Amino acid sequence: MENQTFKAMVVRETDDKNFVREIVTRNMDELPPGEVLIKVSYSSLNYKDALSATGHRGVTRKYPHTPGIDVAGVVTESHSNLFKPGDEVIITGFDLGMNTSGGFAEYVRVPASWPVKLPKQLTLKESMIYGTAGVTAALSLLKLEQQGLSPNQGPVLVTGATGGVGSTAVVILVKAGYQVAAATGKAEAREYLLNLGATSVISRDETNDATEKPLLKDRWAGVIDAVGGNILATALKSTRYGGSVACCGLVASPELPTTVYPFILRGVNLLGIESSMCQPETRNRIWKNLSGPWKPDDLTTIASECSLEQLEAKIELILQGKLKGRVVVVINGG
Ligand SMILES: NC(=O)c1ccc[n+]([C@@H]2O[C@H](COP(=O)([O-])OP(=O)(O)OC[C@H]3O[C@@H](n4cnc5c(N)ncnc54)[C@H](OP(=O)(O)O)[C@@H]3O)[C@@H](O)[C@H]2O)c1
Repeated sequence: MENQTFKAMVVRETDDKNFVREIVTRNMDELPPGEVLIKVSYSSLNYKDALSATGHRGVTRKYPHTPGIDVAGVVTESHSNLFKPGDEVIITGFDLGMNTSGGFAEYVRVPASWPVKLPKQLTLKESMIYGTAGVTAALSLLKLEQQGLSPNQGPVLVTGATGGVGSTAVVILVKAGYQVAAATGKAEAREYLLNLGATSVISRDETNDATEKPLLKDRWAGVIDAVGGNILATALKSTRYGGSVACCGLVASPELPTTVYPFILRGVNLLGIESSMCQPETRNRIWKNLSGPWKPDDLTTIASECSLEQLEAKIELILQGKLKGRVVVVINGG
């Protein structure tokens, strides 16, 4: 295997400090050490991949680098008794695609603590329709329910609803029995969101309060927010007494211009969501829910596919907030 070559996207820094992406042939011995070698069937595109692919040092310190924080594939070599050749596995998060060579390639080599076995009720492709975005949406719902959220309490707001985290949040909430208010900046996406099962579609502006009011009408029983900034602050002001807001992203801004009033007058909870390092027990629970009670009848409604070669254009789109749903990257297929 060591002399074998494989195809991969490599991001490198040019002499004039720009970052370029190329599809190149790499050698197996360039992969990092690790107990499990995986032939990649599918990867997926997340916002973090686009940052890594464009030279964001907060995600990836060293270049040249192969991004791709998600992988679904088949074990070809294992030096761990946890896995054997032929096992179908998923990896989302850890250091994959950040400072460890990632899934935009035909092979990855990783520590045995990173992969999980593919649940029986999911195909490799379905697991990548979810990917990190799905794990994040599911972790958000898990934490909201741990704080007492249940379907009879009222509507749940999803911000950035056409995005990767947003679309998966909408479909799993709907499947779990919730009324979903989907907030989007894309006027033309109304039908898409209603087809996913959203109860109502509202404009991004409506979730971006421009007043100085410390509290607004209490509308939401819970919120899944992938956007941050003033939209997160508005969500806090609009959440019902004792409700919770799951904060998982920052596409609008990492700032949070809030007061303490939602917390001390309405007992609102702000829940931090970090999916890449979540504990094995939580990870297993997430995949159990995503492959069982929270799995929509047809996951492909939120998915599109592209090849490694077609990824460049998708990276540009996700950085502009223009992608809809999840992009599965077909590597070896299967
Ligand atoms: N905490 C974690 O563990 C974790 C895991 C995964 C992702 N994330 C974070 O979650 C965020 C979303 O990731 P993603 O992969 O879902 O990205 P994505 O597919 O690009 O989705 C983001 C969506 O947010 C909306 N949006 C984009 N720019 C905006 C702006 N300036 N103001 C308001 N809304 C905007 C757009 O939806 P509409 O057009 O429908 O409004 C966009 O489709 C990222 O910040 C990512 O880093 C965190």
